[in-house]
Amino acid sequence: MMMIQSDLTSQEQTVTRKKVILITGANGEVGHGLIKQLYKDPSAPPVITLDIRGLDEDIMPYVDSSIVGDILDNDLLDNLTSEYEIDTIFHLAALLSTHSEYRPEAAHRVNVQGTVNLLHLAVEQARCRDHPVKFIYPSSVAVYGMPDLETKARVGAVRENDFLEPITMYGCNKLYCEHLGRYYTFHYRQLAPKAQESGVDFRGVRFPGLISATTMPSGGTSDYAPEMLHAAAKGEPYESFVRPDTIMPFMAMPDAIKALLTLADAPRDQLTRSVYNVTSFSLTAEQIAERVKTFFPNAQISYEPTHGRQKIVDSWPAAIDDSTARADWGWQPDYDVEQAFADYLVPTIKQQYT
Ligand code: SER
Repeated sequence: MMMIQSDLTSQEQTVTRKKVILITGANGEVGHGLIKQLYKDPSAPPVITLDIRGLDEDIMPYVDSSIVGDILDNDLLDNLTSEYEIDTIFHLAALLSTHSEYRPEAAHRVNVQGTVNLLHLAVEQARCRDHPVKFIYPSSVAVYGMPDLETKARVGAVRENDFLEPITMYGCNKLYCEHLGRYYTFHYRQLAPKAQESGVDFRGVRFPGLISATTMPSGGTSDYAPEMLHAAAKGEPYESFVRPDTIMPFMAMPDAIKALLTLADAPRDQLTRSVYNVTSFSLTAEQIAERVKTFFPNAQISYEPTHGRQKIVDSWPAAIDDSTARADWGWQPDYDVEQAFADYLVPTIKQQYT
């Protein structure tokens, strides 16, 4: 296990602060599911949340404290350090890929500087408590950049170190932050006279497109999948912004939560990488539409591809190889494509809209 040097006196160290889990971007799709799942675990420390928007009322009962604020606000982050002992950080706050293309520099600030700020907070925390801080980071299939559709079709599932040439600001930001996580964990201030470990224990997963039955994503480019399903459940027509043959990997939201929590619990010495692919199933837009129509026969789905967003999804791989996550920390999704629709998405969504 990593040991962290501390400059604090033993008296300072004994001041008791409340031990918590910090979730940034908690009001997003993944945050909602994660908060509820952590609440069910009696051994998990209480959760505090940080989001630029106020936490939805229905999630409030599951958290100890919710802070409305910006991850770019260093004073706010300093206050968190002095008030809490942060055991684990789930750093979910980010601008997704479509939003990021409209505001690339703002995306860079939130996605990269925001992550640096949280990594720095983790270093400070680890020093104060003389114990590592787990930093759990959702990266994305967007870190990949397939050169053309022919290559995308030919190579199938890509492994973690292949095709890392993202074409989006979001993908570039995520890929760079993966490297930052590895740097903070293994090489932080390596030239300092008294070299010491940062105490940051960074662990990342590269998510495929996520589909939730209860929440809608905002500003992503894989959004056509959940939008198709939610529109059908509401009895509304849907116009897909990608071609019917467009393919990429997906996962049901409960499996995304499972991946974050399982990786957070994995023994450090079993991890051979800083970031792992995780996935469940790959479908074309047309295959998603067919499944949606099986459950909602009146669904009206048409295709009106938009050049820019089409190009982005075309640059993402058709599938990702998650065999290293399976081998290292026992990753396995609970929902394959059949179960995702029949057991989770459709029954939950029907409840939601009736
Ligand atoms: N779902 C994300 C997006 O569309 C990709 O990780 O931006």
